[in-house]
Amino acid sequence: MKVNAIGGTARSPRHAGELQGLGFAKFQRELARYNVTRFRAQLPEEAPDGAIGREATWARAEIEFIEALRRAIAPLTANLPEDVDGFLAWFEALKDRGPGQGDPLFPFLAEAASLAQMRWFLWQEVAGEAGFDDLLAITQVKMPEQAKLEMARNFWDEMGRGFAKGMHGPMLGRLAGYFELTPSAEDVVPESLALGNTMIALARHRRYAFHSVGALGVIEMTAPTRAGFVDRGLRRLGVPAKKRHYFALHAVLDVKHSQAWNREVVRTLVAEDSRRAGAIAEGALMRLWHGARCFERYRREFRLTMRPSQAA
Ligand SMILES: [Fe+2]
Ligand SMILES: [Fe+2]
Repeated sequence: MKVNAIGGTARSPRHAGELQGLGFAKFQRELARYNVTRFRAQLPEEAPDGAIGREATWARAEIEFIEALRRAIAPLTANLPEDVDGFLAWFEALKDRGPGQGDPLFPFLAEAASLAQMRWFLWQEVAGEAGFDDLLAITQVKMPEQAKLEMARNFWDEMGRGFAKGMHGPMLGRLAGYFELTPSAEDVVPESLALGNTMIALARHRRYAFHSVGALGVIEMTAPTRAGFVDRGLRRLGVPAKKRHYFALHAVLDVKHSQAWNREVVRTLVAEDSRRAGAIAEGALMRLWHGARCFERYRREFRLTMRPSQAA
């Protein structure tokens, strides 16, 4: 590969626009590996040679990947309502009718999964979790006042309202510690890596700021149901309450977060500029689309087949 004047590779990594197969897996693994070190707080002398060139290369590749995703989900955004109330109703209906909603994976985790299966599931999920707090912090930059205020309130909850014990990230870390989870780009399914990579790409590129708003909002909206099932499964398997607090908390708290997000963030941003509705819709659908692909991949691992009545 040719190296350019600022020390980076001259062309964008291959396979960025592929959403299936070996090329997809390879690109997602490489990007996930890059993302591990990308946002690390550093000193000037710690910056690796060619860092600027590498960042430009990956930034281009990410955009190629996100644009391929936009094309893939375009049919799902046809007939978006143009008025604010109509759009809000469309957005809120994703909770029931969006990709991956009502997936039988979750009742299985709640009622039947073995400890080993639950551990495998968490191994993938922890890896796909890009850090809601940081994604939120990056997304809120230069947002209008009302939206920014709600993002700040949400962030404060992520920070345990100022107490380390209540911080959401470390809470997930305690569950990961209990299960001894050490996922890496090498041993996680590419569908899950792609989900985390997408969340980072949307937050990192300002051209996708409103996509990021949609993706974060749809996480708040759909997480409680999934978290409730996972918490039930963890309880059934004898995981102590302190260790499964992350899921117990999100089964409840995100209901409130979602209501506030839709009212204070989505509504106000779309009311100010109706073009943002399309971006918010696309971001939300990308997140759900990846989620659905993860659930399908996990079911394959557990040899769970979907009954036709559950396929809607
Ligand atoms: Fe959270
Ligand atoms: Fe939340």
